[in-house]
Amino acid sequence: MDALKAIRYRRSVRSYTETPVSEKDLEQLLRLALLAPTGSMSQAWSLLVVRDAEQRAALADMVIKGGGEYFTIMRPPAEGHSPEQHAEASHAYAEQVLGSYRTVPVWIMGLVVPRNLFPESYSEQEALADEMSVAFAMENLFVAARAKGLGTVPTIFHWWAEDELRERFNLPAEVRIPVVTPLGYPTEFPEGLPPRLAAIKRPWRTLVHDDRWGNPRA
Ligand SMILES: Cc1cc2nc3c(=O)[nH]c(=O)nc-3n(C[C@H](O)[C@H](O)[C@H](O)COP(=O)(O)O)c2cc1C
Repeated sequence: MDALKAIRYRRSVRSYTETPVSEKDLEQLLRLALLAPTGSMSQAWSLLVVRDAEQRAALADMVIKGGGEYFTIMRPPAEGHSPEQHAEASHAYAEQVLGSYRTVPVWIMGLVVPRNLFPESYSEQEALADEMSVAFAMENLFVAARAKGLGTVPTIFHWWAEDELRERFNLPAEVRIPVVTPLGYPTEFPEGLPPRLAAIKRPWRTLVHDDRWGNPRA
């Protein structure tokens, strides 16, 4: 699949088979990821590849638990549910939709490893440039994975388990973990967005302004 099609057909995948990912494919994806633009050529990034079964399962547990926390915050409670019932239902939903994360063959963490190249007074700008660079690298990986029939999903659910994650993966305090992704063969590639998300997708023309703000292409 060429790059244009891979961009067009990339989708967030949340259900995976256990089919292994070849070392050759994995290495190619990692190298393509790290061809992304990086602010000031600082390469303040690393990719942590998790293939050890125990480490993968532990990470999946953290992500699924974090997903439950996220859904508790972001999804409206069912009618009549107490806050406790809502939290319980949110965690059950996370188990239901993300359960295959426990056996997906690979996880990749996109890490910011600060280089502190900017003057101290510009550290916020540097942090932003570093995070953008990691995001670009991950998008390269997502698109290249799609071209090879592999699924990914940018995931932040681990934010709710950061201490545990740092401890298990030996991540020093200065290293940031903005995003992680499973990498594996999808049970099926979603063709479009789920109806709930398709309903809120904004037409692209309303998101493009010509020549000045307030002049959308609609
Ligand atoms: C910054 C960012 C964070 C995201 N975090 C999560 C996440 O934690 N879990 C998840 O399942 N999807 C996550 N997503 C995926 C979005 O839900 C998804 O991209 C969006 O619904 C559009 O669907 P698509 O990727 O299939 O086009 C994230 C996407 C972005 C850009």
